[in-house]
Amino acid sequence: MKLLHIDAGITGPGAVSRQISAAIVENLVRANPALEVVHRDLDADPIPHLDSHNVGALRETGGDGLEGEAARTAAVLQEFLDADVVVLGAPMYNLGIPSQLKAWFDRIMVAGKTFRYTAEGVQGLAGDKTVIIASARGGLYAPGTPQAAADFHEPYLKGLFGFIGVKDPTVIRAEGVNVSPELREDALKAAFASAAQVTGAPALAA
Ligand SMILES: Cc1cc2nc3c(=O)[nH]c(=O)nc-3n(C[C@H](O)[C@H](O)[C@H](O)COP(=O)(O)O)c2cc1C
Repeated sequence: MKLLHIDAGITGPGAVSRQISAAIVENLVRANPALEVVHRDLDADPIPHLDSHNVGALRETGGDGLEGEAARTAAVLQEFLDADVVVLGAPMYNLGIPSQLKAWFDRIMVAGKTFRYTAEGVQGLAGDKTVIIASARGGLYAPGTPQAAADFHEPYLKGLFGFIGVKDPTVIRAEGVNVSPELREDALKAAFASAAQVTGAPALAA
């Protein structure tokens, strides 16, 4: 069984999303010691954004001097395809996801690999994975809060994973962490408590 641990926070080792994703992974490994963990840090080792010079890297062979970028795309994609469980540290930056994380999605949302178009519409090909999102936000955006309509973060992540067949990712959230020290402490406490409960089922159901 393989677990892919991705972090996208740019605010250092104390990043809230990193703390929560680490707690989730620690708990899953404690419960499933045989888990093989791969950590991809999108801040320490960023994936270049796609542009007019390198978009050919989405083709399998690359060509035009893009062999290195094509190999990177293949490696990032294969790492995702190999994972049974994905734990994603995903902060909200400017109402959405970090651009580093968008660059990662650009390499794994590949027709024929993680989804395909059919006469009946899009068919996700990665629905066998368990995905757990460690969400961190400075303000409050949960359903029912005044800023809920400005949440382009969790709904977007759910949309992306849904597109490739992962219908119901688990979200463990610490939000309002920049509102007040008290709210930050409460949000972290609640998120760590949820992280301690996470089982990774169904992928890890023995
Ligand atoms: C570049 C940047 C943009 C941010 N934009 C928002 C935002 O739009 N809404 C919000 O509530 N918090 C925003 N924040 C605050 C972060 O969501 C908050 O600090 C959260 O803890 C970030 O997760 P991290 O600690 O894992 O980096 C932003 C922080 C940064 C660094």
